Amino acid sequence: MNRRDFLMSGLGAAGAAMAPAAFAKPKAGAQAGGAFPPGFYWGAATAAYQVEGAYREDGKGESIWDRFVLAPGKIKNGDTGNVACDSYHRYRDDIALLKAMNLKSYRFSIGWTRIQPDGAGAVNQKGLDYYSRLTDALLEAGIRPLPTLYHWDLPQNLEDRGGWPVRDTADRFADYAGIMGKALGDRIENWSLFNESKTFTALGYNQGVFAPGRKDPFAFIRSTHVVNLAHGLGFKALKAANPKLKVGSVYDVTPMIPASDRPEDVAAADIWDRWQNLWFAATVIDGRYPDGVFPADRQGDLLNWRDGDGERMHADLDFVGLNYYSGTLCAYGKGASGVPFIDVDAQWPYAPPAFETAKTDFGWNVYPQGFHDILVRMHKVTGNRPIEITENGCAYNMGPAADGQIHDPQRIAFYRDHFAAMLMAIREGVPVRGYHAWSLMDNFEWASGYSQRFGLTYVDFANGQTRTIKDSGRWYAGVAAANRI
Ligand code: FCB
Repeated sequence: MNRRDFLMSGLGAAGAAMAPAAFAKPKAGAQAGGAFPPGFYWGAATAAYQVEGAYREDGKGESIWDRFVLAPGKIKNGDTGNVACDSYHRYRDDIALLKAMNLKSYRFSIGWTRIQPDGAGAVNQKGLDYYSRLTDALLEAGIRPLPTLYHWDLPQNLEDRGGWPVRDTADRFADYAGIMGKALGDRIENWSLFNESKTFTALGYNQGVFAPGRKDPFAFIRSTHVVNLAHGLGFKALKAANPKLKVGSVYDVTPMIPASDRPEDVAAADIWDRWQNLWFAATVIDGRYPDGVFPADRQGDLLNWRDGDGERMHADLDFVGLNYYSGTLCAYGKGASGVPFIDVDAQWPYAPPAFETAKTDFGWNVYPQGFHDILVRMHKVTGNRPIEITENGCAYNMGPAADGQIHDPQRIAFYRDHFAAMLMAIREGVPVRGYHAWSLMDNFEWASGYSQRFGLTYVDFANGQTRTIKDSGRWYAGVAAANRI
């Protein structure tokens, strides 16, 4: 089971699967080309633990991923991010890649343990200096820095004190956000708070397949609330540090398609939409949780809710980051009680029926139509806030051919179809202002180690970290230069 399926097997009786009919080719017109809005930001994304390496250099503290990769059997081939793409030393090479692809925005993340090795207290100046150098080099290259404060690398010390299920972690995050806003707010305008809250809470605290590797459904549910609190507190801390900052956050979203028109399947799709798409994004924006996920009389206890939390977690985000990889067909499944999410202390075996779309090498379904559909859906939730596509991409694992180049036509097709779907949504009024391909380069793909290559650039990890722009990267450079497909 890959990690997208793990997410779907989540908590309850509403299961997720895909069926052939719903995964037809994009609607007529989706393939049409055309121009993107003037000034559209074409970019690429990475994350600190996945590319930086230098895992204990210049005073960096230990993060939960530094620890988790040491646990036997957790990461494919026993890989670690200790060296990764060595971007901590080679960030100038990375920026040269961005330039070569005509990109104008770079989404990267900041490693909290470089800034505060223990997740609290004094600042490690050398860590701060690294991000300051990176920022200056980007600006000098005419590339907009778009940092994410938290892309899953919690300081191990905070995990030892309870981690995301514990409310104090939200306060620690707010301190860290304030430190970053003060340090780099003079040069960086746009900040993302979190990456994919749903993924790291579910896989880290419920499924145990990502750091910190816990399998505790109650802790998981509490962690979702603490992360929402951290959104509100972090947002306020950044604004207090510098009122000019624009603050958003990044949510992974997927259209929920009922497997049939049976009322049970329609209800399953609806509840999965609230739980998977709205639980973080809408909650933070509205300062309240979507109804109908947990039974109203149990929700307060499950979340460890306190008076005033609505205001604490509220953040009137300036922009919204969306990550899109695939769609989800929802079918009602059998749970212990038959009532979604009531039996939070049980996990039920759930086997998704066969997926019938084309798949990437990672086994993820290729479903461009869903990109259009979820953009239209989320626009209704996020109002007129500008949307940045903060991730979208695919793993195809081919290496250099005899000519030394990487021929990856599948990735070009994937991007072309997704750009067409995005353009269709923009023409329908969805305010998308930027797009970041995942990823600038092949990197450490979490529990899958180096086995999945998502890059527009090939990285030869075994031989001196050589970076070679793939055919898809060259093709993307053309799209970015022309601002059209
Ligand atoms: C997303 C993560 C990102 C990367 C891609 C493939 O869920 O945010 O770090 O692993 O998947």
